[in-house]
Amino acid sequence: MADREYVFGVNDKELERLEYQHRIFADHTTRLWKHAGYDRGQTVVELGAGPGFVTADLKSWLGPNGTLHAVEISDTYLEFNRAINGHARGCPVHFHAADIDAANWSELGIAPASVDHVFGRWVFSFLQHPEDVVRRAGAALKPGGTLAVIDYFNFGTVRMCPEGPMFHKAYAAMLANWKQHTPTPDIGALLPRMCAEAGLVVERIDPLMLIARPGHELWNWPRLFFETQLDGLVENGLLEPSDRDGWFEEWDRLTGEPGTFFSIPGMVQIIARRPVTGDSGPV
Ligand SMILES: C[S@@+](CC[C@H](N)C(=O)[O-])C[C@H]1O[C@@H](n2cnc3c(N)ncnc32)[C@H](O)[C@@H]1O
Repeated sequence: MADREYVFGVNDKELERLEYQHRIFADHTTRLWKHAGYDRGQTVVELGAGPGFVTADLKSWLGPNGTLHAVEISDTYLEFNRAINGHARGCPVHFHAADIDAANWSELGIAPASVDHVFGRWVFSFLQHPEDVVRRAGAALKPGGTLAVIDYFNFGTVRMCPEGPMFHKAYAAMLANWKQHTPTPDIGALLPRMCAEAGLVVERIDPLMLIARPGHELWNWPRLFFETQLDGLVENGLLEPSDRDGWFEEWDRLTGEPGTFFSIPGMVQIIARRPVTGDSGPV
C-alpha cells in the first residue's frame, strides 16, 4: 500500500501527533466501546488502525480469547503497529495492509456475519467511498454487532477566541487541502444515514465538542497538528511562508493572554447496530 494516501502525511512527527491525540481522546473512545458492548473474547475489525495506539487498547480490552483485525493503508504505520502490538499479550492481531475503500473483506479473512464490532476513529473522513465501507462493515457484523465511529461532522464550530486571523487562515487552507483529497471531511454528518441505508439501526449519535484552554492538555492538540501541517501547506502554495511565521507568533501571543480559548471541530460518536434478524449482504 502507498504511504501517500493519507493526506496528513506518514512521518515521525505525524506519528507522534497521533500518539498524543490518542492519549487525549482515549477516554472518549473507551466510553464508546462500553456503550457498544465491547467485551473480552469478541472479534473486532479496526479500520484505519494507523501506528496502533487504538490497536494496543483494543488488544488488551478483548483479552487472549479475542480477535482483532487491524486494517491500514500505510505500510509504514502498519509496520509500527506490528512492532508495538505483535506481542503475545492480549488478543492476537491480524494486520492487513489494505485500502478499505476497495478491500474485499472476505479476501482479508473477514467472513460475512463473523465479527462483533467494527470500529473506525478518524478514518471515514479520509475515504473516497464511505458508503461502500459502511455497507461492507454492516455485512461483516454478526446480528447484534455494531459499527462504532468517532469522526468529524462540523468544521464550523472551530473558533479561536479572541479572534486569531492567522489561525483561521491556516485552518481554511488545511481544510481546502483535505477537500482536494477527500470528498467529505465532515463525514459524521452523513454516516448515520449511510448506516440506516446499510440496514443498521442507529442507536446513538453523541456529540464530542470540547473547549481547549492554555495549560490544558487539549491546548497542545491544535498546536501539534499545525506544526505537522504548516510547512506542507506553504509548499503546496496554499499559504505564504509569512503566514506560517505569523501563525506561531499569534499562537504564542494568544497562549499568554488571559481568557483565551479554542473550540474544536465538532465530532460525533456513532453506534449503529445490526438487527438480530435479517440477511447479511456480500462482504
Ligand atoms: C487520523 S489517522 C487515525 C488513526 C487511528 N484510527 C486513530 O484513531 O488514532 C487516519 C488513519 O487512516 C488511515 N487511512 C486513510 N485512508 C485509508 C484507507 N483508504 N484505507 C485504510 N486506511 C486508511 C491513514 O493511513 C491513517 O493511519
